[in-house]
Amino acid sequence: MVKPVLKWAGGKRQLLDEIYSRFPADHEHYHEPFFGGGAVFFDLEPDDGTINDTNPRLINFYEVVRDHPEDLISRLRDLDEPEADPNTEQRFAEENWKGKDVEQYFYQQRARFNRRAYADEEWPANEEDRIEEAALLLYLNRTCYNGLYRENSSGGFNVPIGRYANPEWVQADRIRAASRTLADTDIRNEDFEYLLDAVGEGDLVYLDPPYQPMSATANFAEYSAEGFGQEDQKRLLETVKELDDKGVYFVLSNSGVMYEMYDDAGFHVEKEGATRSINSDETARGEVDEIIATNVPENEREETGQASIADF
Ligand SMILES: C[S@@+](CC[C@H](N)C(=O)[O-])C[C@H]1O[C@@H](n2cnc3c(N)ncnc32)[C@H](O)[C@@H]1O
Repeated sequence: MVKPVLKWAGGKRQLLDEIYSRFPADHEHYHEPFFGGGAVFFDLEPDDGTINDTNPRLINFYEVVRDHPEDLISRLRDLDEPEADPNTEQRFAEENWKGKDVEQYFYQQRARFNRRAYADEEWPANEEDRIEEAALLLYLNRTCYNGLYRENSSGGFNVPIGRYANPEWVQADRIRAASRTLADTDIRNEDFEYLLDAVGEGDLVYLDPPYQPMSATANFAEYSAEGFGQEDQKRLLETVKELDDKGVYFVLSNSGVMYEMYDDAGFHVEKEGATRSINSDETARGEVDEIIATNVPENEREETGQASIADF
């Protein structure tokens, strides 16, 4: 049981038991097409299969964790306290991406992170660049407000500094354990439809798409500048239908508003209550209905869940 390295909105650690209780007793390869923080994958520690996300910076991060864990740890150790003064020897020390003065080390790193990907078409130019990029992503993730990844409409990471007494951004043990878990995993950066070519009969797919908002104000789909709309939700349903036809097991999380769509398609669907752990808007914090849909017949499921909340 490995812990996720990044904090990610919509992380599934609180729902592991409910998700596992739908998994089949046996399966071939394991796939997770909407990876995010990968809470289920890391807890499960599958031997092989695929993981995927459309966010290129997130995927660069996992490739670096898998291929260069020690270089990443040593780069992270060189970073300073978020509250410290900006480093005058570092590029972009004077101003942020909007041209305003940068007063704290955190904002200097955020400005560097935002300039890197979008200023340079060659990005990521080389291995050192990819490691630098991954180190900045983890540093910002562990020191920003609420550990949220949020981009503005032009794709810049825009979360402010967090208030932690002793922020820990190095995470050496987690990086090493995650690296071992990812060793034989194929890491992809494309739309979820890659599954149609990548999976075979008897494989297991866990899908955790950006949720269809329960209301216009509760928009949980803001993971990246692109978003995930109703058309994508329809494509997703068509994709799991095709997986079902191919004899692939799937388990899918979504918001309560998607209940009927999966029920009408003939899948097993149940509601689960869950409290969102990451939400910067206090008034929107609280219970949201979630569903878990699956094609795994009840008599082919594992008898008990593999993890219990007490283990965390
Ligand atoms: C709900 S999050 C996954 C959370 C994850 N299960 C966890 O435990 O942290 C959804 C992810 O889907 C990604 N995504 C959005 N559109 C996508 C698409 N069309 N294909 C694949 N991934 C997509 C987002 O970048 C985001 O990381």
